[in-house]
Amino acid sequence: MKKKTVKKEEKLPIEEVALNEEPAMAAAEEPAVEVKPKKKLLFVASEAAPFIATGGLAEVIGSLSKSIAVDPDYDVRVIIPLYQDIRKEYRKDFRFIGNLFVPLSWRNQYCGIFEYVKDNVTFYFVDNEYYFKRPGCYGYYDDGERFAFFCRAVMEILGFLNFYPDILHCHDWQAALAALYLKTIYCHRPEYQFIRAVFTIHNIEYQGQYSLDILEDLFGISYQYRNLVEFDHCINLMKGAIECCERFTTVSPTYAEQIKDPFYSHGLDGIVRRNEFKLCGILNGIDPDYYDPATDSALFANYDAAHPQNKAVCKAELQKMLGLPVKPDTPIIAMITRLVSHKGLDLVRDVIEQVLRDDVQFVLLGTGDSQYEAYFADLGRRYQGKVVSVITFNSDLSRKIYGGADLFLMPSKSEPCGLSQMISSRYGTIAIVRETGGLKDSITPYGAGGNGFTFANYDAGDMLYVIREALGVYHMKEEWARLVHKAMLCDFTWSSSARRYVELYDSMLG
Ligand code: GLC
Repeated sequence: MKKKTVKKEEKLPIEEVALNEEPAMAAAEEPAVEVKPKKKLLFVASEAAPFIATGGLAEVIGSLSKSIAVDPDYDVRVIIPLYQDIRKEYRKDFRFIGNLFVPLSWRNQYCGIFEYVKDNVTFYFVDNEYYFKRPGCYGYYDDGERFAFFCRAVMEILGFLNFYPDILHCHDWQAALAALYLKTIYCHRPEYQFIRAVFTIHNIEYQGQYSLDILEDLFGISYQYRNLVEFDHCINLMKGAIECCERFTTVSPTYAEQIKDPFYSHGLDGIVRRNEFKLCGILNGIDPDYYDPATDSALFANYDAAHPQNKAVCKAELQKMLGLPVKPDTPIIAMITRLVSHKGLDLVRDVIEQVLRDDVQFVLLGTGDSQYEAYFADLGRRYQGKVVSVITFNSDLSRKIYGGADLFLMPSKSEPCGLSQMISSRYGTIAIVRETGGLKDSITPYGAGGNGFTFANYDAGDMLYVIREALGVYHMKEEWARLVHKAMLCDFTWSSSARRYVELYDSMLG
């Protein structure tokens, strides 16, 4: 039988390429080129760094997609809304590639598509000024409709681009509807029928809950599918995505166990347990180029594990900048956090004044619930020269704190993964964490030869005990230097976790 050879530039339909497995006989003048179709992966998410970021989700979308795109077998793309606040320096280079109209129940909405390629990843931005030309990303009365439009637009855009991914990887509740639309509406179309859906829970607390009355009228999902999304007499989009996807994941192995437990599940433990056979936990990583004390231009001076001396410069300059006394031997304990209760702020409130009796400085950066904002602002006023609370979010200052502090406190009640403990370790700022979720999977106790300080129970006294243990080690100069060195060298890159995602996708693709 004569075999077909594939010339460069000539495209074969996927089935034919797959059949063309045996080495082709090449004609002498036309060397054959093996064409192996790439596996197509699309991330659907509500934010992605560096374009727009309100938290860890964006960083994961930006850095994980980049790490997977290193794999030559994968064509990686990401789709997010085109918010007004998308960073200007990128936005000016976005390329308009077309527009279409998106059906959403009785609505028919304009949708523009912009494209930008970065680090081998193609990013798409969904434009609709009515929904997205507003400050910030979330917190509007019609968020349900905004993200329903976004998800429905994603499904329509696949057809418009003639790009049907092998894996549709949806992140958090804002992207949950993409998996639901795939399994309720689009899978009946031939081009969509082989798309597999993965859903990742970055935080089970935010589930996307709405009244059942609007299932058809707002989300455009037929009432016959109500069982998929109904939970506790409401629409629960996260539950719907868990039911619909082929696999679901969360952002650390420990959190994958914890969400089966009512203490952590925010009501969904029954649903998680029932779908446990398709769940796995994969620890997040950080982008080592983006967070590198050797090159970070926000730092007052650069340093690395082999030459850590300039960390002292970072500390002195930070103290100066914040109006703290410049004391090289006084440890700085830092927190960079959203000021919300699951971050363990009530533990801090219970014992911080006991900690402050020692020779320490305490620096807090973050915004959130007004009761915590007021508490920490007041603490700063009462302990001038010892405590500085900066009630805002500022990425430049956060880096200066990662660089200049000695200890990084993260006593979360629950923490799906957490990235700050990894960043602080890489900057030689030793983490003190509660053993929960990804904190437990990334920080191991000093006493057992680990890279930080940990406590198990959600208890202020236990936290105070390990803070004092850490302060004790801080004053043992050589021992501290060894610990800093060790923490800086921990591998928190994506390398092994990106491989685990690829293994997961590969297992789904057979
Ligand atoms: C959410 C989680 C956080 C995690 C991040 C990225 O913000 O609360 O723990 O690190 O998502 O997955």
